[in-house]
Amino acid sequence: MLIPLILSGGSGTRLWPISRRNLPKQFLALTGEGTLFQQTIQRARGLPDTGAPIVVASDDHRFLAAEQLQEIQVEGASILLEPTARNTAPAIAVGALRALEKSPDALILVLPADHLIGDNASFSEAVAQARPLAEQGWLVTFGIRPERAETGFGYIQRGDSIDSFGFKVSQFVEKPELEVAQSYLASGKYDWNSGMFLFLASRYLDELAQHAPSMLEAAKAAYTKANVDLDFVRLDSDSFASSPSDSIDYAVMEKTARAAVVPVSCEWSDIGSWDALWMAAAKDEHGNHSEGDVIAINTTGSLIHAHARHVVATVGLDDVIVVTTPDATLVAKRDAAQDVKLVVEELKKAG
Ligand code: GDD
Ligand code: MG
Repeated sequence: MLIPLILSGGSGTRLWPISRRNLPKQFLALTGEGTLFQQTIQRARGLPDTGAPIVVASDDHRFLAAEQLQEIQVEGASILLEPTARNTAPAIAVGALRALEKSPDALILVLPADHLIGDNASFSEAVAQARPLAEQGWLVTFGIRPERAETGFGYIQRGDSIDSFGFKVSQFVEKPELEVAQSYLASGKYDWNSGMFLFLASRYLDELAQHAPSMLEAAKAAYTKANVDLDFVRLDSDSFASSPSDSIDYAVMEKTARAAVVPVSCEWSDIGSWDALWMAAAKDEHGNHSEGDVIAINTTGSLIHAHARHVVATVGLDDVIVVTTPDATLVAKRDAAQDVKLVVEELKKAG
């Protein structure tokens, strides 16, 4: 059985001011039908021989997750709640422990809850292609052809082919420096790691036992001592907090000898920043993407969102981000979009 494991614990700070601590981006309807979280659940629902999803989210967002599941009539989902964020590797570990209870040979399809996928048919095809490899014990990543020297992604180098669809990963490098990313792009030998994975739950836990044993211990304790309350599985606070904080990319994928990649072409986009949203969004003939009451004069290559009840007008601007909400306004150069998270840090300091 395949079990979708939906990672929805991110804080989405780079999409401030619409993404907030109490309502991070995965729970927002940014584009398409439903929220990004709901779109992810629906995408996985369409796959064959697939069980109810396991959602791993912050305890702060339990009602958002539960309500949004209910809205699209998902039954039997497990909602595992993290008392503190420990990044993706421990989140996947507790999800894997849950999946093993459902079936000893459960395959888990790890899906970030905040990605846009334009072509669900290609996505389903790639999952079907990855399945036999995962059943043989490979940790399969889905590779995307890189379009630019993005430093916010993992890069995977294709090695020998394993079957007609999959390749061994000869190198996995998480978030390289710009020059390194540029050389990978130029070499044509690397794919982006999409951040979606397919593997046996048992296999992932074995890898943790080898590469991050203290994380595995913490995850096991947090899961076995969890407090089950209605639909929620509240992980034990002290145990979970004792886990090292690390991503699956650094903790497992860079280290394992059993990584495989299945290329996928599914119009994929990690809506990580306003710039990424601009890139993925439909634009007018001036390259602008606007929403709400917007007047753009002599403005090009920009994203302008008026989420407040007033008009936003821009004159003579190129490549900017302007986002207004009832209580905050963001104005940024598009190529500085990654630094929006610094605003959130400032706000946190200010309390
Ligand atoms: N439950 C839970 N707990 N989820 C989390 C946590 C956590 O502590 N931290 C992050 N997530 C979720 C995020 O909401 C997101 O859906 C997903 O896990 C990935 O985390 P990101 O923080 O968005 O990772 P990234 O984008 O920097 O990098 C990853 O994705 C890239 C592609 O988008 C890596 O896998 C890269 O290698 C990859 O290229
Ligand atoms: Mg991301």
